[in-house]
Amino acid sequence: MSEITKGKKLDFKLKDVQEVYEGPVGVLWEMLMGEQIHVGGPVETDILAEKANITNQTHVLDICSALGGPARHLAKKFGCRVTGLDATKKMFDEAIKRTEQENLTQLVSYELGDSLKMPFEQGAFDVVWGQDAWCYVIDKKKLLSEAARVIKPGGTIAFTDWIQVGNMSQEEWEALNKFMVFPYMETLDGYEKLLEETGFEVIEKEDLSDDFARHCHFYQDRLRNELKNVIIEQYGSELFEAADSGLDMWIAAADQKKVGRGRWIARKK
Ligand SMILES: C[S@@+](CC[C@H](N)C(=O)[O-])C[C@H]1O[C@@H](n2cnc3c(N)ncnc32)[C@H](O)[C@@H]1O
Repeated sequence: MSEITKGKKLDFKLKDVQEVYEGPVGVLWEMLMGEQIHVGGPVETDILAEKANITNQTHVLDICSALGGPARHLAKKFGCRVTGLDATKKMFDEAIKRTEQENLTQLVSYELGDSLKMPFEQGAFDVVWGQDAWCYVIDKKKLLSEAARVIKPGGTIAFTDWIQVGNMSQEEWEALNKFMVFPYMETLDGYEKLLEETGFEVIEKEDLSDDFARHCHFYQDRLRNELKNVIIEQYGSELFEAADSGLDMWIAAADQKKVGRGRWIARKK
């Protein structure tokens, strides 16, 4: 495969992402994907958990934990402790509410904060975890350095993320990232390099882009066939049209193997 020319960073800040998740678009993501807001839902969480060797002895830090869907799923399934970190107040409040409703507060707790300034002690966690969210983070090397700081030596980092997998024009790159409010996407190899530079040994990296393209089609079908009326009633036709045309653009790029998704498992040296 020829080398990818990485797209240039866009000037999004954390407050732009917080605005998205405070508003109707955050709700729309849950309608499309469920309360585990990542491609593949609970099935993907189980795959990542198995690869990260999660047991009832593990303390997991979920970075960008959103509604806490994966955190509660892990606690219920494995009996592990999970701490979620998210920067959006609405997501943080909703995660706490749902965790209380499910009587899981002994195992699952949350912090409100920026993943680039983690409010945790050195070596506090066995596993640092992330699902389809670090694409929002403006400095991914700093994020991984912070992860390395808070993981115990020999601990694991396990995450999935949306990535650039092929070349495209700057115009297309900007349109794709702007629609999602991503400052930029990494590449499969780019994350591997960053992991190595921040003190990790990469155990596994996997390109999940074909599955990503299939899921994009599935989410658009759900948007058009199941959610259209309710979205228009609650938020107006403009939001529906924007979501639908944004998905059109992402589906085209995914089908052309320009964007996709990856999974990485690495051990802190
Ligand atoms: C797609 S959702 C995450 C979904 C979640 N991982 C899951 O699987 O359910 C993105 C989340 O990332 C959070 N986020 C984005 N940038 C962040 C940052 N720098 N620090 C902390 N949270 C951040 C947003 O507030 C939002 O709740």
